[in-house]
Amino acid sequence: MNSIIITGGAGFIGSHLVRRMVKKYPETKIINLDALTYAGNLENLRDIENESNYTFEKVDICDFSAVISAFKKHNPDGIIHLAAESHVDRSISNPIAFVNTNVVGTVNLLNAARELWKDNMDGKRFHHVSTDEVYGSLGDTGFFEETTAYDPRSPYSASKASSDHFVNAYFHTFKVPVIMTNCSNNYGPYQFPEKLIPLMINNIIQKKALPVYGKGLNIRDWLYVEDHAAAIDLVFHKGKLGESYNIGGKNEWKNIDLVRLLCQQMDEKLGRTKGESEELITFVTDRAGHDLRYAIDSSKIEKELNWFPSLQFEDGLSKTIDWYLENKEWLQRVTSGEYAGYYDEMYKNR
Ligand code: NAD
Ligand code: TYD
Repeated sequence: MNSIIITGGAGFIGSHLVRRMVKKYPETKIINLDALTYAGNLENLRDIENESNYTFEKVDICDFSAVISAFKKHNPDGIIHLAAESHVDRSISNPIAFVNTNVVGTVNLLNAARELWKDNMDGKRFHHVSTDEVYGSLGDTGFFEETTAYDPRSPYSASKASSDHFVNAYFHTFKVPVIMTNCSNNYGPYQFPEKLIPLMINNIIQKKALPVYGKGLNIRDWLYVEDHAAAIDLVFHKGKLGESYNIGGKNEWKNIDLVRLLCQQMDEKLGRTKGESEELITFVTDRAGHDLRYAIDSSKIEKELNWFPSLQFEDGLSKTIDWYLENKEWLQRVTSGEYAGYYDEMYKNR
């Protein structure tokens, strides 16, 4: 492809994907389209920002005229769409922001792609990056398959499910060449410390309380972010148009067990007494409508595209902790300003 627009490239997963694509495809122009909300940070891409095939455009995907002019300017053959409001707790406090970016923003991008590619859709691809949360919540057994009925239960997952339906509708109605991935929980460097793992790492460093929701029995399936970026690259280039692919780590952890493992690894790395950080664990009021368990069946992408997760969780977690310890300035910068207000507001009544 000559050029690919990646939306949300200044965020957590987007920055890993942009870095991968810029380095792996030097002949392809990679355009990062991002509004730079609280979650977007160009510092995440400092190491590649001067590469000749990389460009940044500050665009809010809710603004159709800004989107279409960026599309006309760069004339992409491919779009990989990650820009979103992505945190469930924020979606409970402010659902409308999720409707705007995740639903209206996605439809704006689909309309812009349709307009740009109206004379010839051959060789074009619109890849929508979604989540396993659209499938709802599992009990103790079973896995989400691509055919599992959607059953979103938080404003975040409802907005992502809605965007997924629009993506499929544009394939069937307007023949926009779409493809979709639904991934489980990611972790790794550059994740904003509102999400479980980096929030706990940050609090452990500072010896602050570790707020575990409810009894800590909820289960998530964790995948290292670079494995997700590799899967997106593969599906974008080799997947079948009109289809969706589930991506997961085969790596289920109860929150409380995960937080304990984090505490153990960090006590060792920080030279603290064994058990010291675990004493910071505090059980707090549960999240409203808290989904019990997510677990992905990723056999389709394994069989059809030969993708597998590359890292053991303990190793990925250790790498992640090392990154945060080596990048304390990044952590300090993203937690200064707006973050303190967010944290107080989100955790004060728990
Ligand atoms: P993130 O919150 O770290 O980053 C989101 C990015 O989108 C930021 O750079 C932000 O500035 C940008 N953005 C937000 N609103 C925008 C707007 N209106 N216009 C343009 N840019 C905007 O998110 P993430 O964790 O990297 O997730 C990326 C995508 O992957 C999302 O679509 C999310 O639903 C999906 N996903 C995330 C996970 C996960 O565990 N984090 C798992 C599966 C799927
Ligand atoms: P999160 O990282 O917000 O991802 P998601 O809700 O999209 O799966 O949360 C992961 C799990 O950790 C989820 O079950 C909620 C729980 N959690 C806590 O117990 N404490 C916290 O402070 C946070 C942010 C999450």
